[in-house]
Amino acid sequence: MTILVTGGAGYIGSHTVRALLKAGYEVAVFDNLSSGHAAALPHGVRLFQADLLNPDAVMQALAETQAEAIIHFAARIEVGESMREPLGYYRNNVLGSLNLLQEIQNTGRRIPLVFSSTAAVYGTTDAVPIPEDAPLRPESVYGETKLMTEQMIRAAHAAHGQPYTVLRYFNVCGASPEGDIGEAHASQTHLIELACMTALGKRAKMMVFGDDYPTPDGTCLRDYIHVQDLAGAHVLALKALLDGRHGAATYNVGLGRGFSVREVLDMVDRVVGTRLPREIAERRAGDPPRLVADGTRIREELGFTPQFPELRQMVETAWMWHRTHPNGFEF
Ligand code: UFG
Repeated sequence: MTILVTGGAGYIGSHTVRALLKAGYEVAVFDNLSSGHAAALPHGVRLFQADLLNPDAVMQALAETQAEAIIHFAARIEVGESMREPLGYYRNNVLGSLNLLQEIQNTGRRIPLVFSSTAAVYGTTDAVPIPEDAPLRPESVYGETKLMTEQMIRAAHAAHGQPYTVLRYFNVCGASPEGDIGEAHASQTHLIELACMTALGKRAKMMVFGDDYPTPDGTCLRDYIHVQDLAGAHVLALKALLDGRHGAATYNVGLGRGFSVREVLDMVDRVVGTRLPREIAERRAGDPPRLVADGTRIREELGFTPQFPELRQMVETAWMWHRTHPNGFEF
């Protein structure tokens, strides 16, 4: 049984490809390698190096693999960049997803789809923790593009019975415990990744974006989830779809507790064994004070149980990856 993974050469995609192989599925990857890395893929995984903006290429990949299901990651993912280049984000993320849905429909087969969405669809919310039925008010173009894709998928479900599961991720971090794949973005914006770069001496210091938030220590709270656990959540969602158990489900993927920026940086200090220089800076535009998932639904319906729930495990695996691959996949 072949699972087609769009964006499978990216950070979360490549961890999910491994989890799928381990669970006994065959995997083919559709990725334009604009930000993914062929080196992140295990040997033997077929790679269609192509773009979702090219419907013929999507059609061909579906025909050649006869995919039984699709996991759709391929997207541009930076909040800040999405505000500077909104049209590029709408084109890539929304039009790319539309092409995918259209080509699925054109096969005449019902191919279940797991979609990679984000907590950014909620925007700033007072709900703590955030349930899946909280209001959807994305504040970034990135969040908008993910919400629009969710809406297209739900409409395809209503009209043609397209089976789907939407997974809304909170703050993904960590790296493969084997230490050979991890986060490798051209422009780094994520807290733990930046802290590791600082520990490697590639950056002078850490900036703490705001210490006057209405939170216990004044810095933002986020619900961090290990990428390996997130990959496992995709396998669970896929199995439930293929069993026909859940054909139209939306789940938060988070652990239901928040760590502050200070707590995360303190943990990085402990793991790397040195105190990283820090400076308090202005708040970063668009950062909600706290984003914590209500993860009850995925626990109860899919039996999701994290294997790496400790912040220390997340930081340790991220540090192992960055320390051994200071230039990512460019050795
Ligand atoms: N932060 C700092 N200093 C840094 C980098 C980050 O203080 O150098 C803070 C941020 O202000 C934020 C927290 O650390 O409070 C986490 O920031 P990240 O950039 O690591 O993650 P975000 O919470 O901004 O982003 C995540 C996902 C996005 C998603 C967003 C939804 O990575 O894909 O949540 O709000 F869109």
